[in-house]
Amino acid sequence: MIKIAVLGCGTVGGGVCQLLIQNAHDIAKRTDKCIEIKKVLERNPQRAYDLGLKEDQVCSSLDDILNDDEIKIVVELMGGIDFAYECIMKAIDAGKNIVTANKDLISVKGEEIFALAKEKNVDVCYEASVGGAIPIIGAMQNILCANTFTDIVGILNGTTNYILSKMYEKGWSYSKALQEATDLGYAEADPSSDVEGTDAARKISILGSIAFNSRCTLSDVYCEGITRIEERDIVLAKKLGYTIKLLAVAKERNNKILLFVRPAFVPLAHPLASVNDVFNAAFIKCDAADEIMLYGRGAGSMPTASSVIGDVMTICQNIANGTTGKLGLECYKVKEISPVTDLRSSFCLRLRVADQPNVLAGVASVLGKKDVSIESIIQSPVKNSGTASLTIITHPASEQDLQTAIEELKACEYVKKANIYMCLDMETM
Ligand code: HSE
Repeated sequence: MIKIAVLGCGTVGGGVCQLLIQNAHDIAKRTDKCIEIKKVLERNPQRAYDLGLKEDQVCSSLDDILNDDEIKIVVELMGGIDFAYECIMKAIDAGKNIVTANKDLISVKGEEIFALAKEKNVDVCYEASVGGAIPIIGAMQNILCANTFTDIVGILNGTTNYILSKMYEKGWSYSKALQEATDLGYAEADPSSDVEGTDAARKISILGSIAFNSRCTLSDVYCEGITRIEERDIVLAKKLGYTIKLLAVAKERNNKILLFVRPAFVPLAHPLASVNDVFNAAFIKCDAADEIMLYGRGAGSMPTASSVIGDVMTICQNIANGTTGKLGLECYKVKEISPVTDLRSSFCLRLRVADQPNVLAGVASVLGKKDVSIESIIQSPVKNSGTASLTIITHPASEQDLQTAIEELKACEYVKKANIYMCLDMETM
């Protein structure tokens, strides 16, 4: 019998309790041990009782768990940073192994947590912190670990993917789609971290650290969310043969790491374009395996519980084999972080310009001088305004050069408005 403690009885905690009961027989067979929740730390005991837990299983003090030598694994599902950090550090110090779904914490305090875990010879597993049910961390740390990784292009936030999918497929408004995602339990307690891209930024910093063996933290990630996306952007993307996805990207070129989260035009032919609703995916490029895409449910109670219990079972085996403390996030290199303007990609440039002679030539000349080459261009008049809308898809170009060109264009009296979307293309990704 392996006894565990669970900190927090929210959406994921509920899934963990349910899965342990539902698959108890097979879990016991596969780990050679029964897994029992001995204690749950939960401020609101009723939430625990609602999950079928008994009074003597529920506690309100962490010490009840730390001082219980029978408890070998602490599963942290509270979220947030300060209190979760305190609990995890104390639990490691007390010799407990840790499973956490807390991307907020791992993305900012990973270094301290892993250092203490190494010293204390315990495991810290965090598969559920990225991509819900998708075994991406396990894949990168285990079966793909012979590879050198160069690119991870992820759809790593279920809430925003749900919102964008519904806006694209069903023409729902942004607020209706966000409400549905919240009602379905996908969104964070404060959904601004979903829609502003911070949640995906935390996840890509974790994957970047694993892929490139160099510590990447939240503050290294350039981050734009989906709040500026308008219905007409979605209509335009559709017309041009793209969909819009919130991409979380980690790339390494010449020993430098580029990390960003931003909405992007994704060609319908790209495998990431068909990742819809709450599903997440990570498209990985590496030297031996070449291209791999992992796909699955990125949020929700049972999908996340699947990864949490998987980690618990791995630790059970490590305890049985006496091999705890072999951490997979060593970050034994130190690599520079590049500014996002180092990105080379295709872009969709949208301009509102005065509808008069020489404007198109002027725009083409500004772009040409900065080495930005045009792949396609569409001009449509905007009725009764004396202006036209220009949609330009560029060939792969340096974002720095494009941004400089845009600043120059904005200073031209004939340019009324300018904005860009990155376009995912197979040449640069
Ligand atoms: N709010 C997160 C999402 C939950 O929507 O992906 C899983 O991390």
